[in-house]
Amino acid sequence: MKPHVDLKTRSAAIAPFRRWQLNLFVFPALCIAALLTAAACPAQSLRQAASQIGLLVGTAVNPRLFSNPDYAGTLAREFNMVEPENVMKWAATEPAEDRFSFGPGDEVVAFAEAHDMKVRGHNLLWGVYNPAWLKQGHFTPKQLRRIMKHHIQTEVSHYRSKVFAWDVVNEAIDAKGGMKHSIWYDQPGIGLSGKGTAYVARAFRWAHAADPKALLFYNDYDAEGINAKSDAIYAMVKDFKRRGVPIDGVGLQMHLFKLHQLPSGVAANIERLAKLGLRVHITEMDVALPINAEGEADAASLAEQANIYHQMAAICARHPACAAFQTWGFTDKYSWIPGSTKGKEGAGLIFNAAYQRKPAYTAVLDAFTAEAKADPAIKEQRLAAR
Ligand code: G3I
Repeated sequence: MKPHVDLKTRSAAIAPFRRWQLNLFVFPALCIAALLTAAACPAQSLRQAASQIGLLVGTAVNPRLFSNPDYAGTLAREFNMVEPENVMKWAATEPAEDRFSFGPGDEVVAFAEAHDMKVRGHNLLWGVYNPAWLKQGHFTPKQLRRIMKHHIQTEVSHYRSKVFAWDVVNEAIDAKGGMKHSIWYDQPGIGLSGKGTAYVARAFRWAHAADPKALLFYNDYDAEGINAKSDAIYAMVKDFKRRGVPIDGVGLQMHLFKLHQLPSGVAANIERLAKLGLRVHITEMDVALPINAEGEADAASLAEQANIYHQMAAICARHPACAAFQTWGFTDKYSWIPGSTKGKEGAGLIFNAAYQRKPAYTAVLDAFTAEAKADPAIKEQRLAAR
């Protein structure tokens, strides 16, 4: 069956970036001057600091905001990777059965191409936030299996050679390490109910068939350190590697809500995944803070937040298998946190609502810069592992 694909032409919403273009000239000049005086070449942005250690630094984006010069300018200046926050999800890309809509996702790709950024795709399969036709369609397992395969293959084929890495399956495992109930697993499931991670493996095989060059990730939250959930993810991906299920990495989301309760064992978790030959991406970092009615956090919380960003960015920067460090948005003006905490928490990102750099921004920049000085060989190691 040939899908109906609503293809938008490349977006006209690519704003001019005079300051950014200027940096392209100013930065090399500064850099040459620094080299001549034997000083370190100072990074002017996160993306410059990240590229000095071979790291991708990304953020989740909403293409509707590309026409805002502050949004687009900051994005292009600071990041070398983008991931659509919502527009490549099922509800956006297949809002009615076999009616595909890739326009907003294409805008993200066009923006990335115009600014030399990579595109991370998110996500092909998730148990929640699916469109009503899918949730309430009363499909048989056989029908659902056909729908799932068709969706994955149509979307991955559309973005072949444009999206370099996909979150193939999102959040399929529960806090205790069991399989989450979902329409794909057991309500009614695609016929693999009770067979553990079999439906997850199926999704990876179908995605790989549609674009053998794309890197394929399993992505989840609260599994950054060592715990029952990350143990189950580790067991799943180890089994996939052993059986030749095409998986390339694990996404550690890193949504942190408790300031004084950091995940423990993040470096050890990255290390054990790396030993399986997998990459790790930090995919959705934010650090929620208590906020006032204006949406602002106090100075002490901002300092603590910076400390947490520094620790996590440093762990990633130090490990060659940690190939990407990404935040879930970049300005506190647009973040999912206030909406999901009744306005009690927010200010979770590295730029404030006025696009000014927060202490957390400097902390991440410092972590990347420090690693470049501490281990100049890390760049080659990371690029080789990537
Ligand atoms: O755009 C519509 C708007 O037209 C409508 O008026 C409004 C009414 O509710 O809804 C708007 O859509 C919302 C969309 O965000 C854009 O703001 C959806 O309802 C809402 O469900 C959706 O939430 C997103 C959520 O995933 C579910 O897809 C969040 O923005 C997004 O940040 C969040 O991201 C997830 C990752 O995908 C996976 N990991 C956790 C992360 C945070 O929850």
